[in-house]
Amino acid sequence: MITSLAGTAFAQPTSVIPIETKRYGLALQVGNDKRVGIIHFGTKLKNSSEYLHAPAMSRRGDDYSGILNSVYTPSGSRNLVEPAIRVTHTDGNTSLDLQYVSHSVQKTDNNVSTTSILLRDPAYALDVTLFIKVYAEEDVIEQWSVIKNNEKGNVTLHKYASANLYVSAKDYYLNHYHGDWAKEMQPEEIRLTSGIKVLDSKLGTRANLYQPPTFMVSLDKPASEDEGRVLYGSVEWSGNFRVDLEVDPLNNLRVIAGINPFASEYVLGKGHEFTTALFVYTYSDKGKGDASRNMHRWARKYRVMQGNGSRLTLLNNWEATYFDFNETKLAELIKDTKKLGVDMFLLDDGWFGNKYPRNGDNAGLGDWQENVQKLPHGIGYLVKEAQNNQVKFGIWVEPEMVNPKSELYEKHPEWVIRQPNRPEHLYRNQLVLDLSNPQVQDFVFGVLDNIMTKNPNVAFFKWDCNAVIYNAHSQYLKDKQSHLYVEYVRGLYKVLERFRAKYPDLPMMLCSGGGGRVDYAALKYFTEFWLSDNTDPLERIFIQWEYSYFFPAITHDNHVTDWGKQPIKFRTDVAMMGKLGFDIVVSELNQKDLEFCQNAVSTYKTINDVVWHGDLYRLASPRDNDYASLMYVNDSRDRAVMFNYLVSNRYGAGTLSPIKLNGLDPDKKYRVKEINLYPGTKSSITGDTSYSGDYLMTIGFNPGVNARRASVILEVTEAK
Ligand code: GLA
Repeated sequence: MITSLAGTAFAQPTSVIPIETKRYGLALQVGNDKRVGIIHFGTKLKNSSEYLHAPAMSRRGDDYSGILNSVYTPSGSRNLVEPAIRVTHTDGNTSLDLQYVSHSVQKTDNNVSTTSILLRDPAYALDVTLFIKVYAEEDVIEQWSVIKNNEKGNVTLHKYASANLYVSAKDYYLNHYHGDWAKEMQPEEIRLTSGIKVLDSKLGTRANLYQPPTFMVSLDKPASEDEGRVLYGSVEWSGNFRVDLEVDPLNNLRVIAGINPFASEYVLGKGHEFTTALFVYTYSDKGKGDASRNMHRWARKYRVMQGNGSRLTLLNNWEATYFDFNETKLAELIKDTKKLGVDMFLLDDGWFGNKYPRNGDNAGLGDWQENVQKLPHGIGYLVKEAQNNQVKFGIWVEPEMVNPKSELYEKHPEWVIRQPNRPEHLYRNQLVLDLSNPQVQDFVFGVLDNIMTKNPNVAFFKWDCNAVIYNAHSQYLKDKQSHLYVEYVRGLYKVLERFRAKYPDLPMMLCSGGGGRVDYAALKYFTEFWLSDNTDPLERIFIQWEYSYFFPAITHDNHVTDWGKQPIKFRTDVAMMGKLGFDIVVSELNQKDLEFCQNAVSTYKTINDVVWHGDLYRLASPRDNDYASLMYVNDSRDRAVMFNYLVSNRYGAGTLSPIKLNGLDPDKKYRVKEINLYPGTKSSITGDTSYSGDYLMTIGFNPGVNARRASVILEVTEAK
């Protein structure tokens, strides 16, 4: 029997539950034994009644029947592969079986609907409800589960994944990332072989420092930008995560993703529920570009705060001053902000602490009072200075952390995460506050709330998080130490929820010593993120390129700094591919560089709509060419911006032949014009000739990138 998406509860054996987006879907099968398995994952069938004929992917022999393809693999009974869930019941029994009870579909609107499937252990009063939320138009699915303990006492959860997918292909190519400070998003592609590949983090806060929770799996063969079958996944959790990718004995791929169960057994009291993290994924049979556009559209519309809104360009003082500033110097920088033409001045680290002034990264963190030497008239004075100069004022905080050299540490040693009987181990001279403790949650909320209450015109926060959790131990959690990693993240979300309830629209940057903490659960509360402290523009092309697979340009904070050897034009052009900011000493710019930057800010205002809200097409990868090229196209396909960069120093490197554009309307005519020129230079790409979209996408256009023209921005406008 087939139930349609609109169907409600049913209990007939061997039924199929199709869960479909616009172009692809999953088909679940409820077997005679009431176990629910995945029988199809990928491009959807025209007629969903035919899923019934799909050869059950896991049926090879009795041993595996109905187990390998489980939609949520339990542990301790017949299953011998990696589980999605593992528990110990109240009576000490360690087995779990999950059988279908019912399912229903809840429609949020015409685009979004959630299928929930209730599973129950026939021998124990334990329920698991799987939630599969479909964003049809965007081809995106979010999945999570709720585990309910109806037993007579506590149940211990040893593993509690968000989702358990089952995919069939000849081969699987995993594209994942590693990194470190200033080296975020270093890609690696491997063919998965039999057994398990695990992507995980055990760092607690700043969980993505070495490995982010985002990945792609190409099916059959490595997908390219415009071809191939590819699955994108990302765990929505700002803490320890784990993704198991297991090629099983039938050469199918099991993907189990969620919170990392490492050192995190969770004791679930009688009558209580545990909601897992969410896992978001998309699929395309048209290559990586299409899959990332799915992700971007979804993120802008449904996840990122003000995802389709606008952003504030800014001047930041971090690299211009580091900790060495005072009121007079900042007042000058505020004037420079205005001179540059950007929207806001962002005051970074170093403005607080009195007993232990924050004059370096070794003191003051936790003491969020203005330093009276540096800021005798407080933040209020700076906010006013900003107002007098018609710019906005934003400020840096790192509220989850503490330096041992601080009054906070002296006053509240019990708020610090550390093992009681071991020496403290610091990361960047600091320790992490225990956000599982509600008092600490109040404190962290208060850091931002106090600033806002005293200075209601503060227009922006940069929320940083510079340390990992060593010596994980919470004085607050007492005998529940294994809850710390989970409760920390929940505590963080509670604070962010509270902050957003009071300040729903205030833009905020998610930073973690660079990109140490970016995921789609956090981006619900943030408008943007800091990709990396590495702002060398050459490195940035690569870093921004990789982030662009998962996160839309409107979330990318890119600052022009003094890193790298490239001229200011190159550095600015690279930063213009996301949200533009500056972190330079404006007063030290020579006249031409200043003029260029001022013009660039004006030019950016004319293209930011396309960059922020358009579709991204990566045209030429910096990894395969001497150059990188990508473009953004607006929805009506009458405007596009193409960014091109030289990434090689070798003799003769550059764009020798045309680069094929993408995403245009083949039947429209376009003019191509070089913009953002350095003062005194001319370009032969003037927009005088018009080309059809067909021409530009079939033959292409040569931006003329070479050693003398190392970065070229082209504006593509419909010729009317
Ligand atoms: C981190 C951030 C930087 C800067 C410093 C301040 O490293 O990534 O941008 O804010 O902290 O200490």
